[in-house]
Amino acid sequence: MKHLRNWENNTWLSSKKYIYKFSKFLTLNFNINKKSKILDIGCGRANIISHLNKKYKFIKKPIGVDIYKNNKLKKNIIFRKMNGVTFLKKSKTKFDFIIIKQTIHFFKSKHLYILLNLAKRSLSKEGKILIFLLENKNSEIPVFNKMRKKLEHSFKIDNKIIKKIKSNFKKYHLIKFTFNVHISRNQYIKMIKKKYISCLMKLSKKDIDQGVTEIKIKYQKDLRFKDILNCFVYKS
Ligand SMILES: C[S@@+](CC[C@H](N)C(=O)[O-])C[C@H]1O[C@@H](n2cnc3c(N)ncnc32)[C@H](O)[C@@H]1O
Repeated sequence: MKHLRNWENNTWLSSKKYIYKFSKFLTLNFNINKKSKILDIGCGRANIISHLNKKYKFIKKPIGVDIYKNNKLKKNIIFRKMNGVTFLKKSKTKFDFIIIKQTIHFFKSKHLYILLNLAKRSLSKEGKILIFLLENKNSEIPVFNKMRKKLEHSFKIDNKIIKKIKSNFKKYHLIKFTFNVHISRNQYIKMIKKKYISCLMKLSKKDIDQGVTEIKIKYQKDLRFKDILNCFVYKS
């Protein structure tokens, strides 16, 4: 699998505002306290759990698992460089929160139920699994033609994943996290050139250059849109 090295690399996803707002969303919706044991599967730089740890000063440091060790990985967490499934198979800890944010689509279809079942097994009595996926109805993410096709294709795959999540969880509820993005078109073009989102990963340099030209024609110099995530919440 190609690594998404530029995910959160100088994008709104790495901004203080985003991390603060996401952490606040978790605080408002879930009963997090200093005793909470937290696992983040596909943690990237671990910005979220690091921020939570600063805020709550957890008795047990949160654990971040990722197959790739980012060179800007936060230090105030425990990091395990491995596949989420492998980690859960080995782990004996019962977690209060297992976060899987914008990562579930990286798991092979045949591993999905294994991941979900292992995650359920790894929950404490009141534990919760929180799976975040990009909202795919009326997406406001600025796109060029080829990017839109790829994004639509990845939304179809997400819908299959969502069906599996629903059938596996049976009992779940859905909440939404919305972040209002405000960036310049130039900044967004830089992100596209760095292939900030997985639907861009397989596009050639020619496709990207063509896409940049389209973006310049289609969008104003100032971009404002909503980045919306659906959060599937499973409670043990
Ligand atoms: C799109 S990024 C999301 C990062 C972070 N969760 C966030 O929302 O900022 C997806 C992350 O999942 C990681 N990943 C992909 N497959 C994985 C697997 N099988 N086990 C653990 N991590 C994985 C990637 O290396 C990457 O860091």
